[in-house]
Amino acid sequence: PHRRQDRRRFDAAGIDDRVAERIAAGRRGEFTNVPDTDPDLPGNRLWGLEIADRMVASQLGAETVAAATVPNQTALNTVITRGVTAATAWQALGAEKRAEILYRAGELLEAKRAALLEVMGSECGKTLDQGDPEVSEAIDFANYYAMLGQLLEQVDGAVPQPVALTAVIPPWNFPVAIPAGGTLAALAAGSAVILKPAQSAARSGAVLVEALWEAGVPRDVLQLVQFRDRGLGSALVADSRVDRLILTGAYETAARFRELRADLPLLAETSGKNAIIVTPNADLDLAARDVAQSAFGHAGQKCSAASLVILVGSVAQSARFRAQLLDAVSSLRVGTPDQLTTQMGPIIAAPSGKLLRGLTTLGAGERWLIPPEPISSTHPLAGDSDGTSKLWRPGVRAGVQRGSEYHLTEYFGPILGIMTAETLDEAIDMVNEIDYGLTSGLHSLDSDELATWLRRIEAGNLYVNRGITGAIVRRQSFGGWKKSAIGAGTKAGGPSYLHGLVNWADAPVMQ
Ligand code: ALA
Repeated sequence: PHRRQDRRRFDAAGIDDRVAERIAAGRRGEFTNVPDTDPDLPGNRLWGLEIADRMVASQLGAETVAAATVPNQTALNTVITRGVTAATAWQALGAEKRAEILYRAGELLEAKRAALLEVMGSECGKTLDQGDPEVSEAIDFANYYAMLGQLLEQVDGAVPQPVALTAVIPPWNFPVAIPAGGTLAALAAGSAVILKPAQSAARSGAVLVEALWEAGVPRDVLQLVQFRDRGLGSALVADSRVDRLILTGAYETAARFRELRADLPLLAETSGKNAIIVTPNADLDLAARDVAQSAFGHAGQKCSAASLVILVGSVAQSARFRAQLLDAVSSLRVGTPDQLTTQMGPIIAAPSGKLLRGLTTLGAGERWLIPPEPISSTHPLAGDSDGTSKLWRPGVRAGVQRGSEYHLTEYFGPILGIMTAETLDEAIDMVNEIDYGLTSGLHSLDSDELATWLRRIEAGNLYVNRGITGAIVRRQSFGGWKKSAIGAGTKAGGPSYLHGLVNWADAPVMQ
């Protein structure tokens, strides 16, 4: 794959100065001073949802600008009709020609790396060391799915037939890679796409779409929509002309869509509550580092993040492990993404509901080893408009009890809980009791323990003696089971992903 497998890490010396400059400008709210003739920085005069609105408006034509800015059922209907109509020519183009366009899209995403890093940082709080591999992942998706599209052929007497229209509804936390993955896969499989980025990642989605258009994907084949009104999301999914839905988001959202249209094939990657088990046979220094990185990368706002570490046997009493872990966590530099040294950025919105409870409330038997704390800052990326903070120091709680709220709940923020188990089997039981099964980790250098864990653990993506985030296209495809996935069951970035995006018809019988 295209991606540098070792995931280049930025340091102050290696960073493209222009990215830092753009992010600093965004922080000061000075995007309007940047000329929009700079080809590397498309749309930089616009901010947030505004750019998405304008793109929708330009798709729909001047006469429907008002409708597009506040999309309604009529505007949505126009978008769907255009997509279905445009799909015919896209399919007729053939897999090879489509692949050429998608390979070019990969090259353009590389050329726009700076712009993408800027927009992910300013819009979603992505730090540079998190954003950079994300852009690489999007490029990998372009190259990999372009290749897979050309390899889609008869399987077990069934032939693939492209579908007309795929809706792609990604989350905000991977504002480039996840929308890119779904969109590129569907395009490679011969479908037109309607992409609805998350509201808080609308600008990132727009930069991505611009790159794909520039690569040669016709504008009606890939359309960007954005609506504030949740009802329109449901209306999109409910429309029988939509043939597939690729969704990444909460389990409840996917379940709601499935209920809305039971006949719609759904490729949904949903929630996770992931644990790393550390046994006495682990390299404890390595384990402490990997747990901290997996828990607090992107401030824990990954479905793949480690939310629990389960310490087996003597590790529970290991002063050394505890000291290493707490040191790794408390030394994380929390800040805004425009600071190149920031290791943990802001959470997307000042915490409320479940996340606020997770950051502030302890369950029975629990105590904070490091209490999570808001950091007060006047930086525009650090707080909500009402002044509540989005920058939090990460928290570590010990004494999490089996069956407790913390054990079983996904929080999606910068908190790690510690559980203890007498044996590896008990630790595995604790993981398997969780409704979700997305990523899971084992730190152990013992091959028997590894074999036991592999045989019993219930999760889609397994990681041994390393962190549990950052699946790599083609090398390790990504997807969960249990309540971490709904639908076709194929994994993103894996060899059968496109199989769920076409219809399969009986092969004609040869005379
Ligand atoms: N694909 C992302 C990861 O593996 C969510 O961390």
